[in-house]
Amino acid sequence: MLIFQKISTLRLYLNEQRRKGLSIGFVPTMGALHQGHLSLLETAQKESDCTVCSIFVNPNQFNNPDDLLKYPRMIEKDVNLLKNNCDVLFYPSEKEMYPQQVVLTFDFKHLDQIMEGASRQGHFSGVATVVSKLLHFVEPDIAFFGQKDLQQCFIIQQLVKDLSFFTTIRVCPTIRETDGLAMSSRNVRLNDIDRKNATNLYQNLKIAQNLIQKQENNPLEVKKIILQNFQELEKINIRLDYFEIVDMEDFKILSDLPIHGTFIAICIAAYVRDIR
Ligand code: PAF
Repeated sequence: MLIFQKISTLRLYLNEQRRKGLSIGFVPTMGALHQGHLSLLETAQKESDCTVCSIFVNPNQFNNPDDLLKYPRMIEKDVNLLKNNCDVLFYPSEKEMYPQQVVLTFDFKHLDQIMEGASRQGHFSGVATVVSKLLHFVEPDIAFFGQKDLQQCFIIQQLVKDLSFFTTIRVCPTIRETDGLAMSSRNVRLNDIDRKNATNLYQNLKIAQNLIQKQENNPLEVKKIILQNFQELEKINIRLDYFEIVDMEDFKILSDLPIHGTFIAICIAAYVRDIR
């Protein structure tokens, strides 16, 4: 695996690969890699000739300075994990990514006004900025993103469409622990008790799924039941950020029973102690 910290040398190398007729697959990350990232890389390796991973903790997408400070960073461990899983690591400094302060902001209308967008002001504008930069630097044929960050996937698909990037966005399934907890870089911050308690998120997703599949409760009633469950969970330091049921067609919040055949997603974000 080759490691590049400079945009110029990364581009020289990738242009060479393209001249040889090789396709480029790209997995952007913020590091603290886990099985979810490795599964994205595995798919990227299958679908492209040269796999690039980037590690950059993007300050622009954090609205909470404490969250940025505490975001796990473990570059040596990450490099070791990546050795057999990709061809190129792009690991730029903050100066390399942001030589000057960004003035551009993005507005994705209803896509970033709900859920993550409502809870984390400016988050998606920061994501769109860094993803745009990375797509310019890497110029991948395909870029791979995890469905765990479903709203991010919708935003990035919109970004790529609106700005005509020549990259196909591939959304890959969420990878879960055996007890259902979605794999996430922030999970390393959970102590043993938090980790056990965190499975309540998955359990409530399943409860909501069962209620919806029975077609007896409309989404608002399901939401009420889940909010009640989370009120109980406050005793064990779990605080719900949001629960929503969205239509996968247009990413709008569903308030009526899904019509047969409607593809929906059930979304939860919560804090376990102070870990989101
Ligand atoms: O999903 C992430 O890890 C980040 O939001 C991304 C896409 C790498 C942009 O910083």
